[in-house]
Amino acid sequence: MQIEAVSSRPFEGQRPGTSGLRKKVTVFQQPHYLENFVQSVFDSIGDFAGQTLVVGGDGRYFNRQAIQTILKMAAANGFGKVLVGQGGILSTPAASCVIRQYGAYGGLILSASHNPAGPDDDFGIKYNIGNGGPAPEGVTEAVYDRTREIASYQTVVCDDVDLDHIGAFDLAGMRVQVIDPVADYAALMQSLFDFDAIRSLLASGFSMAFDAMHAVTGPYAKAILEGMLGAPAGTVRNGEPKEDFGGGHPDPNLTYAHELVALLYGDDAPDFGAASDGDGDRNMILGSRFFVTPSDSLAVLAANATLAPGYSNGISGVARSMPTSAAVDRVAASMGLDCYETPTGWKFFGNLMDAGRVTLCGEESFGTGSDHVREKDGLWAVLFWLNILAVRKQSVQAILADHWRKFGRNYYSRHDYEGVDSAAAAQVLQNVRDQFLALPGTNLAGRRVACCDDFSYTDPVDGSVSENQGVRVLFEDGSRIIFRLSGTGTSGATIRLYLESYEADQAKHGMDAQDALADMIAAAGKVSQLQPLTGRNQPTVIT
Ligand code: G1P
Ligand code: ZN
Repeated sequence: MQIEAVSSRPFEGQRPGTSGLRKKVTVFQQPHYLENFVQSVFDSIGDFAGQTLVVGGDGRYFNRQAIQTILKMAAANGFGKVLVGQGGILSTPAASCVIRQYGAYGGLILSASHNPAGPDDDFGIKYNIGNGGPAPEGVTEAVYDRTREIASYQTVVCDDVDLDHIGAFDLAGMRVQVIDPVADYAALMQSLFDFDAIRSLLASGFSMAFDAMHAVTGPYAKAILEGMLGAPAGTVRNGEPKEDFGGGHPDPNLTYAHELVALLYGDDAPDFGAASDGDGDRNMILGSRFFVTPSDSLAVLAANATLAPGYSNGISGVARSMPTSAAVDRVAASMGLDCYETPTGWKFFGNLMDAGRVTLCGEESFGTGSDHVREKDGLWAVLFWLNILAVRKQSVQAILADHWRKFGRNYYSRHDYEGVDSAAAAQVLQNVRDQFLALPGTNLAGRRVACCDDFSYTDPVDGSVSENQGVRVLFEDGSRIIFRLSGTGTSGATIRLYLESYEADQAKHGMDAQDALADMIAAAGKVSQLQPLTGRNQPTVIT
């Protein structure tokens, strides 16, 4: 085997976003494209000679080829060892778990999350650092700079390696260990949750359905729910990961997880339903004919955390992204816990967790997690809910009703306007900013406006400042209207409008969220002129 320095065409700068580099498969298939990016990562992450790299992905089309390329390049670049999931599989939270468990230098995760998969769809690659979390901006910027100048990459010339059998072998002086992608993650889950209590719950006639949406969580959910916890075979639906995710869009929300939603709202609805996304980091929680918003889910987990063995000594603090509802703030206040409000994106939670300031965190976009790993974790949230249900022996709906009785209800909804003209989108936000001085003190949607601002965040751990993270209209009673532009959309601009209103009165907790928020929705339209500017009379997606 020989190590080769392959000279490559000049490579246009490729800036990895917060979720790594995401492009069409056909882009990744261009000669030297993936190689140039991987070499740019290796050139930007410091001295890893002899160290361990973790590699795995969500199983989508091009996953296997990419892993072969990465293994050969890791060997040529001097890694001592690569841990790779069998069949190339590692969910995002499992990769984070494995990086931490084995003290790896870092990991490369191949995924484009919930984006559709297949030859004409998306692929992605993301570097995570030794704490198991996404690379911080300093690293991704260094990678970007490197992509603009890179002229060659290192690889070894050899046959493809066998990813399908657990075991270890040598690749040009580097150890490759093909590991069970589920085992370490499952053991971590078992250390956090009361598996005996959940097993008894599932044996008692409690029924549940988990939809893996033909993506990576199938093998994890089958091993843990049906294997270790004894749920009946068939509990895990769409559990075979497919290279094209079965042609679907594995994003666990009311729109895309419609099969599960239909089941949970049907005649023979199970007691509990859950789904996860392409790479296993998102989750949706449903009760029988009942949807738990991700913001409420985070609040319920925080309020009930000590029911799970892994959190029985209490939690150190909580964090939520700014647009996530303030339901968890009320729980934190009543428990005397610190509550941090961060910009959108998981990377902001890592510093807080590394510093021991928060244990639980979450986003309204179906992401919930804790300091057990440094990624959001779909199946973890499902097991946490099962643990709570097993101890409290109440329905999901009853748990929420009880929660709202204690803390009040934060009615919440997100309206997405996808693929709108970028200039119009910018104008929508500017229209709200233009009223920053005039709105405070006036009444809007029957509430008094307290203040308006562009959200800015100073990281309490490293002092870094992130500005312009969303335009906010904040009301005296805690209600909020927020406008943000998506940072992950691929065509045009996506405006996200987040609406929240607080209701203390228990008699008013049973409303439909859209009805409860109708005045807020109208007020948001009025101050922003969103609809005339974008030419859209309704959102593309409502959650
Ligand atoms: C979206 C979500 C955000 C999440 C991100 C990555 O980003 O809103 O909460 O962290 O995907 O999963 P956005 O498109 O809003 O920038
Ligand atoms: Zn994901």
